Amino acid sequence: MTTLDPEMTGEELSGLREWIQTGELKGQHLEIGTAAGGTLCFLMQQYPSPKVRPKFVVVDTMMYFANQLEVVKQNLANHNLPVDAVDFRVTPSAEALVNASAAGERFDFILVDASHKIRHVMADLRWLRLLNVGGLACFHDYSSNFKGVQWPLDRFLKRNGQFSHQGQAGSLLCIRREAASSRAEVNGGDRIWAYWWALFFQLGASIRKRTNRLKRAKLN
Ligand SMILES: C[S@@+](CC[C@H](N)C(=O)[O-])C[C@H]1O[C@@H](n2cnc3c(N)ncnc32)[C@H](O)[C@@H]1O
Repeated sequence: MTTLDPEMTGEELSGLREWIQTGELKGQHLEIGTAAGGTLCFLMQQYPSPKVRPKFVVVDTMMYFANQLEVVKQNLANHNLPVDAVDFRVTPSAEALVNASAAGERFDFILVDASHKIRHVMADLRWLRLLNVGGLACFHDYSSNFKGVQWPLDRFLKRNGQFSHQGQAGSLLCIRREAASSRAEVNGGDRIWAYWWALFFQLGASIRKRTNRLKRAKLN
């Protein structure tokens, strides 16, 4: 059964609320990966008056479960939030990034919570090119349980001193852009690094699968 609630803990939502409320973020807000839209509703509710609510953009392939887009829209309606105030981009994140870049879009807030695979997370980090100075970016599942999220972010932060650590609540990491970038935040080397680790993880998973199968066969 699909839950309409955010896929985040109370602690993570509290962190989100604090960062949003103190961030003075007026430009577009983006969520990459929305599931049933629970966190989207929570984010929009942080701006109770439509007059001060920034434009919200959602990027999602909407294939997480049946009728996902309709469920998200119903969730917004259940919270008395205007469905037409959200710009839904039903497309893979990489394609949406090409379009947003070509249109010269900028964001004050970006929540990255789509695929947790290492090469996809590294690819999603390219969205930070479109984050305004002073803007915030949050990443869900930044923890040792999700190396696919943690490792690319650690590498990104080491190589991009123009972003500062704003805080962490549970597995939700928040960073802030302090200055413009002088070069691409994610380069070809970063992408290749992520591809190699993806292959390594895949190999590890298939060895574990075979070993477990052998163990089970021995027991029977
Ligand atoms: C973990 S859920 C998001 C949870 C949501 N942010 C929340 O807090 O309730 C992941 C979402 O990412 C979407 N997704 C996964 N890979 C994607 C991709 N490459 N491009 C766009 N959306 C993607 C899935 O369809 C799913 O809705």
